Amino acid sequence: MNKFNSLILNSTVKCLDFIYSGRDLQRFWILEVIARSPYFAFLSVLHFKESLGIKNDKTMFLMKEHFCQAINETEHLKEMEKRGGDSFWIDRFFARHLVLLYYWIMVFYYFFSPANAYDVNIKIEQHTFTTYSKYLKDNPNDQKIKEIAQDELNHVQELNQALSMLTSV
Ligand SMILES: [Fe+2]
Ligand SMILES: [Fe+2]
Repeated sequence: MNKFNSLILNSTVKCLDFIYSGRDLQRFWILEVIARSPYFAFLSVLHFKESLGIKNDKTMFLMKEHFCQAINETEHLKEMEKRGGDSFWIDRFFARHLVLLYYWIMVFYYFFSPANAYDVNIKIEQHTFTTYSKYLKDNPNDQKIKEIAQDELNHVQELNQALSMLTSV
């Protein structure tokens, strides 16, 4: 399943890289729109499971973690909007349709296979970190992007921790 996740993600990333080559700001904005949705999906599923009575220390911890990550991604998104990443109608149209599809895929994925949903999101966060790192090579003084790139790396670590919590007794 991990290989399947990688295959789907790599082809999506290649398409996005091709479409958005030379348009860094728009690419960052779209990545941030997409990066938020798994956390909303995780929260939706955890909330739904809580409503069904599946509630314990782990689910409480995960809800807090994913809420903080969703807020953090929203801050990233606002920064990209401040920089004009969403100025074109076509980018907004593309991102909002893609995120709608991606959100529901992640809801079903997290409900039926949380480990796989985390695996997909870890790969996305790693890709986002790599994307920002490439930009920073040409723009080493962009402090805000440096902070955002570090946040993405933190998300990778937090998601790995969440993944190991699932497998621990
Ligand atoms: Fe982000
Ligand atoms: Fe992130």
